Amino acid sequence: MKMKVTKAVFPVAGMGTRFLPATKAVPKEMMTLVDRPLIQYAIDEARAAGIRDFIFVTARGKSALEDYFDAAPELEATLRKAGKDELLQTLKATNMDSGAIAYIRQHKALGLGHAVWCARRLIGDEPFAVILPDDVIAAEKPCLQQMVEAHAETGGCMVAAMDVLPERAHAYGVLDIGQDLGELVSVRGMVEKPATGTAPSNLAVIGRYILTPSVLRNLSQIKPSAGGELQLTDAIAAELADGRDVFGFRFRGERFDCGSKAGFLQATVAFGLARPDLRDELGEYLRALIAQREAAE
Ligand code: UTP
Repeated sequence: MKMKVTKAVFPVAGMGTRFLPATKAVPKEMMTLVDRPLIQYAIDEARAAGIRDFIFVTARGKSALEDYFDAAPELEATLRKAGKDELLQTLKATNMDSGAIAYIRQHKALGLGHAVWCARRLIGDEPFAVILPDDVIAAEKPCLQQMVEAHAETGGCMVAAMDVLPERAHAYGVLDIGQDLGELVSVRGMVEKPATGTAPSNLAVIGRYILTPSVLRNLSQIKPSAGGELQLTDAIAAELADGRDVFGFRFRGERFDCGSKAGFLQATVAFGLARPDLRDELGEYLRALIAQREAAE
């Protein structure tokens, strides 16, 4: 019988060097996209997919994340007193049920694979999701929910996949495709950050995974590879070597790389324009800006 996916790991122990100096004191996952931190988008997506246990792999300097999900009784009381019900509801969406969220320290930044491995005791022997909060996905049906539904049919491991330009493939984990069924792809192999011109396809892995517990066992055995880090991609590829299924899933939606400055700015514009309360003002500003630039050329 296929088990339901109810646990998700959020690896948030990276140093976020691309956003220095901002990330010197503020965790990257706490940076604000429109009016909520990146981590809130990830949590909302996980909830929509039926996740009940949230496991954060954190590091030194990330305590703002723990505070964010804590109750804020004084603030709530002030808003209640002032009759600011809408804000109160917004605030309450950040509260987590007692016991639903767990924090584990990754004591050394040894890579994404190592961060996931740090959560092994809390995951136990069941399939689990991994969400990288700096990949923000705008979608009608949240990406992880799409994946959980597909996974209920396939079992095995599943990675979110996206077609990228050939010249960008070197920046991703890339799939070697067995059978391409459109939305679903059977995977024959995976390469993390292939050297330019050597990628087996243009189908890149992005930050949503559903993994079997055997991946955690693989993580105990593999050696560091690309960048001297313990790569999650290698541990998933080891499943293939053992004859187990790995699927790529072409999700429906738009992914923003909020781990990069350009991606974060693009997400800010796209999410701003999608908001009914901001759409008109922001749209008008952008139109005027473009007209001004065109006139100057
Ligand atoms: P990134 O490659 O984006 O690294 O990690 P980073 O440290 O967050 O950012 P830069 O490149 O220095 O700007 C991808 C994901 O893996 C997590 C990160 O927190 C992010 O969610 N990660 C990475 C860990 O949890 N631990 C690690 O050792 C490395």
